[in-house]
Amino acid sequence: MHEYANDAGLVSSYFNHLQEEFRMPINLKGRSFLTLKDFSTREIQYLLDLSLSLKEKKRSGIRGECLAGKSIALIFEKPSTRTRCAFTVACIDEGGHPEYLGKNDIQLGHKESVKDTARVLGRMFDGIQYRGFKQSVVEELALYSGVPVWNGLTDMYHPTQILADFLTLKENFGKLKGLKFVYVGDGRNNMANSLMIGSAKMGIHFRIAAPGDLFPEKGLVEECQAMALETGATIEFFEDPVKAVKGADAIYTDVWASMGEEDKLAERVALLKPYQVNSKLMEATGKPECIFLHCLPAVKGNEVTEDVFESSNSKVFEESENRLHTIKAVMVSTAGNI
Ligand code: CP
Ligand code: NVA
Repeated sequence: MHEYANDAGLVSSYFNHLQEEFRMPINLKGRSFLTLKDFSTREIQYLLDLSLSLKEKKRSGIRGECLAGKSIALIFEKPSTRTRCAFTVACIDEGGHPEYLGKNDIQLGHKESVKDTARVLGRMFDGIQYRGFKQSVVEELALYSGVPVWNGLTDMYHPTQILADFLTLKENFGKLKGLKFVYVGDGRNNMANSLMIGSAKMGIHFRIAAPGDLFPEKGLVEECQAMALETGATIEFFEDPVKAVKGADAIYTDVWASMGEEDKLAERVALLKPYQVNSKLMEATGKPECIFLHCLPAVKGNEVTEDVFESSNSKVFEESENRLHTIKAVMVSTAGNI
């Protein structure tokens, strides 16, 4: 164990190995959810199973009490429909109290440091959701608040979205391992990064189709390749979208300019036009049953055409609903009474 002591990645990999070997029971109490890198294959599987049972529970009209007496802070420095609503409704469904803290409501990063804000909120709340720009901010909140912190999107990662995406894949195909999953478009944004990590963890054959300038950062690719060796996943990069999608079970895309980089839109449109998900690209999969996914909101006419978005292959609203059940699973397993 000694040789692993100074490397967080290796410690986590060693722990995952022990967890797998001895089939230790899963217990996520007190854990933060900052990136899927911190979670083992079994822990992700556990969160997906829990999401499904919470979905069934809600459908059968049973009101939960897993967050009874708990107060949850929801910090948003960027706008949100799905993530905000999913955290709010999930919290209320389980008897908790959500408090929305918008970018003009609190002093975070302006009049008060992240470290001080973390220590104040940690004394009042039982869990903190953060959506914003820098990954370092969500990490600092987790370091100093003393309560579970959940990443509701940063420039680098969007891990709660991946749980919803994978639950949707599982519902459609009955499995994750071995699926052929192709992400088309801006290959270095928070969605591409997080889908690559999640796929590596879950044994998915993941491809990114993007212009070379928009491939993900080399260091992250290497980390994911190392994870993939343990799970049987493969990770490949293509500049030709038609070649990339051949045999795909699912195609995923996202906006061409993420929140905070709106000034890059014109240049991205020029670069990414050949990467639009349209009916021709769906046909190029050779699989009529290939599904279409998108984290939303979508810019129809850019990354996806209206007809693909509205087609029966499109599962975007199932995926959107799954944000609720998966976010609930994250909150109740890390900060709830289960
Ligand atoms: N997919 C997603 O995170 O949507 P919002 O930006 O609406 O939260
Ligand atoms: N890449 C997008 C995801 C939105 C859910 C963004 O960051 O704006």
